Amino acid sequence: MAHQTITPTGREKPFTGDRMIVSKTDLRGTITYVNRTFMEVSEFPYTELIGQPHNIIRHPDMPRTAFRHLWKTIQSGEEWFGMVKNISANGDHYWVFANVTTDYRDGRAIGYYSIRRPLPEPLKQLATELYAELRRIETAEGMDAAEKWLMDQVEAAGFASYRDFMLQTYLKHAGQAGGEA
Ligand SMILES: Cc1cc2nc3c(=O)[nH]c(=O)nc-3n(C[C@H](O)[C@H](O)[C@H](O)COP(=O)(O)O)c2cc1C
Repeated sequence: MAHQTITPTGREKPFTGDRMIVSKTDLRGTITYVNRTFMEVSEFPYTELIGQPHNIIRHPDMPRTAFRHLWKTIQSGEEWFGMVKNISANGDHYWVFANVTTDYRDGRAIGYYSIRRPLPEPLKQLATELYAELRRIETAEGMDAAEKWLMDQVEAAGFASYRDFMLQTYLKHAGQAGGEA
């Protein structure tokens, strides 16, 4: 798939202020809509995004555990909040705080939305460390061990759920994300 041929540059692409990156997918994660900011930041043209699986912007630094947790959460009908590092077409990366929710029509789930805001600077550091350790555990001990480790971290930090951990940690730092907001 396209994303596997992109070599990360290690350079961060600025995504700041009060902009939002929005996309919609069908129930399997195929992209059906992107907003202008999505195209600007990802540097993919519309035609290379629509109809493609959303992992087209997946960055290799992202642990599989994060997406497993995302899918489990949204397929159970709950919304998901999380920190995501994405890759642009030129190999640069950008961090987002994502909120993924179900898209309903006539009371039936027809797909999902993701609305992404800039990730506050301290959370980029937190996510970098958390995700490096998750990838290490995934390789050494497997997916279940990685997920358990993540949930243990959440509990040790005093949060009742991953959702609480993400939301409260984000809200504590929100406002420092952009600088120009
Ligand atoms: C609405 C929605 C938005 C998503 N946004 C992203 C995203 O911004 N970046 C990303 O890497 N994966 C995103 N995903 C998850 C991908 O579908 C996929 O699970 C992930 O990239 C891992 O790919 P893989 O299973 O091929 O490793 C999104 C999924 C949904 C349903």
